[in-house]
Amino acid sequence: MDLGIKDRVALVTGAGRGIGLRICQTLAEEGVRVAVNDLFPERAEEGAQAVRKAGGAAMGAAADVTDAASVRGMVERVLSEWGQIDILVNNAGIPAVTAQDAVPSTGGLFSGSDREQWDRTMGLITYGVLNCARAVIEGMSERRWGRVVSIISDAGRVGEPRLVPYSMAKAGVIGFSKALAKEVGRFCVTVNCISPATTETDATRAWIDAQGDQIRRGYPLAKGLNRLGQPSDIANAVAFLASERAEWITGQVLSVNGGYSMVG
Ligand SMILES: NC(=O)c1ccc[n+]([C@@H]2O[C@H](COP(=O)([O-])OP(=O)(O)OC[C@H]3O[C@@H](n4cnc5c(N)ncnc54)[C@H](O)[C@@H]3O)[C@@H](O)[C@H]2O)c1
Repeated sequence: MDLGIKDRVALVTGAGRGIGLRICQTLAEEGVRVAVNDLFPERAEEGAQAVRKAGGAAMGAAADVTDAASVRGMVERVLSEWGQIDILVNNAGIPAVTAQDAVPSTGGLFSGSDREQWDRTMGLITYGVLNCARAVIEGMSERRWGRVVSIISDAGRVGEPRLVPYSMAKAGVIGFSKALAKEVGRFCVTVNCISPATTETDATRAWIDAQGDQIRRGYPLAKGLNRLGQPSDIANAVAFLASERAEWITGQVLSVNGGYSMVG
């Protein structure tokens, strides 16, 4: 199936590694030009290089998505290079405190959490999405074509212990997406969410290893396929929702999770 998005321009946040990088690579395979955002400039550049090495068109687009001015500057750089942003993938969602961070800093019992942790989590997940969408939505509406896909989490759909503020923030992105979908549908802009459960990335590897084989019991497909979720699972679903083929789908949440939760 031709996804019909060749030469479109995508901005993918938090894409220097993990799920975001795989999304960039998958979109580039479809002929999309990708702006690889990350908080850490070297990660953004390395991600763009990885895409270019495989024959795709990519530029590094470092910015802190929690900072509106930083996001506006990034969007201006992408527009001056490619003139348009057709696809926004809000993927950044696990706060990174240092470039060495490999462990999500969102975890821990709610009783031990504090305002600093809430701000870090809510700031990235909610303001990150608001800042990026605000910076691109008018251009998409004017051109009467756009796709906003946000990576949420099954934590936001069914709740996850030890991830209370994170679950709250991710659930907020669902409300954001449905409301915005209703505003911009008349401009042929769609707004949807992809909801992963545990997916193997640098952010989760240590935690997955600590769980041992027990973790697979929660995933009906894990035994048959002998694996957990991979970044490519999420990227394939994003590519579809970002495509021409998904023009009649908006305001929806699709869990890509091996059957971990099945929300009716
Ligand atoms: N990995 C999982 O198991 C899993 C499960 C459910 C949902 N998710 C969601 O998928 C998305 C990607 O997860 P991942 O595992 O690939 O994470 P990751 O930590 O491997 O990669 C995320 C990237 O985001 C960047 N980033 C952090 N703060 C940023 C900021 N302020 N501005 C710009 N970039 C920033 C980081 O530098 C990092 O390179 C997140 O939204 C996460 O909540 C992941």
